[in-house]
Amino acid sequence: MTADDDKRAAAHAAAEDVADGMLVGLGTGSTAAFLIARLGERVRSGLKIRAVATSQRSADLAREVGIKVLDFADVAAVDLVIDGADEIDDRLYAIKGAGGAMLREKIVAASAARMIVIADGSKRVDRIGAAKLPVEVLPFAYRFVRRMLGNLGAEVVLRGGAELPYRTDQGNLVLDCHFGAIADPQALDAALSAIPGGLGHGLFLREVGSAIIAEHGQVTRVDRPV
Ligand code: A5P
Repeated sequence: MTADDDKRAAAHAAAEDVADGMLVGLGTGSTAAFLIARLGERVRSGLKIRAVATSQRSADLAREVGIKVLDFADVAAVDLVIDGADEIDDRLYAIKGAGGAMLREKIVAASAARMIVIADGSKRVDRIGAAKLPVEVLPFAYRFVRRMLGNLGAEVVLRGGAELPYRTDQGNLVLDCHFGAIADPQALDAALSAIPGGLGHGLFLREVGSAIIAEHGQVTRVDRPV
């Protein structure tokens, strides 16, 4: 049983939550790719859905497998978003953005009535904080935002390096931050969100309603209490 088998198992379990008529948010990354492939199969078997994608990559994948993809600019609300994560803990706090799509992922998550995170067991942690926490930055504000993140205690690395920096789908930069253990996630969320020129970050504290995690072939589900 490989990590890919577990990603596929989690993705297939989450795909069962998708029903006729839904407008579905499609996440980004290798686990989300298994979801998109599975939804494509279900669409070919008659499932009627429309989708929005959190990245150009996922939009392309979805169209390739026959899913109708809308422009999110025309969409005010999504029924269900299903996405991967870099880390998730039992509080359903997640760190996302290794794939660089965290800004669109957070916007689509905020628009969704429900969010399910899908992951293999390596993503499940006791407390989030070991993964790098990415911040999307307006290039104009790069130096300033970098200084502000340093002031918050982060070790900060420009994704891709100064020679050939990584660019998001929006053409912005990504600063990968390492905070170590995150003592007060809400305070950090508020502090990151308050930096002018920082456009979005990969800390997801409120969005995730359920996590479906597969480990050694065993699929478990954690739901946020209502
Ligand atoms: C994309 O920006 C990320 O948030 C991904 O959802 C996250 O990195 C998980 O990706 P994998 O499923 O490839 O591990």
